Amino acid sequence: MRINKYIAAAGIASRRGADELIAAGKVKVNGAVLTQPGYDVKEGDSVVVNGRPVGAAEKLVYYVLNKPAGYITSARDEFGRPTVLNLLEDVEERVFPVGRLDYDTMGLIIITNDGALGNHIAHPSGEVYKTYLARVNGHLSPRELQKLRDGVYIDGRRTAPAFAENAGTDGSCSMVEIKIREGRNRQVRKMFEAIGYKVLALKRTAIGEIRLGRLKEGSYRKLSAEEIEYLKNC
Ligand code: URA
Repeated sequence: MRINKYIAAAGIASRRGADELIAAGKVKVNGAVLTQPGYDVKEGDSVVVNGRPVGAAEKLVYYVLNKPAGYITSARDEFGRPTVLNLLEDVEERVFPVGRLDYDTMGLIIITNDGALGNHIAHPSGEVYKTYLARVNGHLSPRELQKLRDGVYIDGRRTAPAFAENAGTDGSCSMVEIKIREGRNRQVRKMFEAIGYKVLALKRTAIGEIRLGRLKEGSYRKLSAEEIEYLKNC
């Protein structure tokens, strides 16, 4: 594995950050400062970054998990709340969740140990739409749906164009499918608040072409090779 990818996969820096560390002479391989930025790490190589050994390259693994409400999406929580990583039973690699969902949001979260992919998804081209299904307290009129599509002001800034459609009613409540390409804090909840509705439940059903499908709550599956390729290029 190329040295910058190896360092990124260990979660130490992005690939570009790894290149900078190499250029600054902070990376040693087998005891010597590395001078070749394109070095391929071989089994048994000892890699040291900033004086700290970096573990042997792990196999890169990629999962999609259906997060239940009541779990956080960071690797650790200062309040001891359960994290989505607690739901993984047979994963030995040092994985982390990519991006975040609120404690009370359900649905699709990607889990991997590929630091480079994590960085890439955190800073995508901005064209990847994330799809959510929101249960809200009321029925939106066509005009209100249009407001969500055109953009509403949250935290003093207008949201980018979105897709929004009614997706069924449930007594006095209704379901709305909304697709957004930004990832602002509690964005979907705040968008509904901005037009006078409260989100009662929220589930992410897709990130671009990666879909939750029939994955049960709390379960996870491996991403296919095509899905991994798609995420690397989105
Ligand atoms: N928007 C929200 O309001 N919450 C989430 O968890 C994700 C998007």
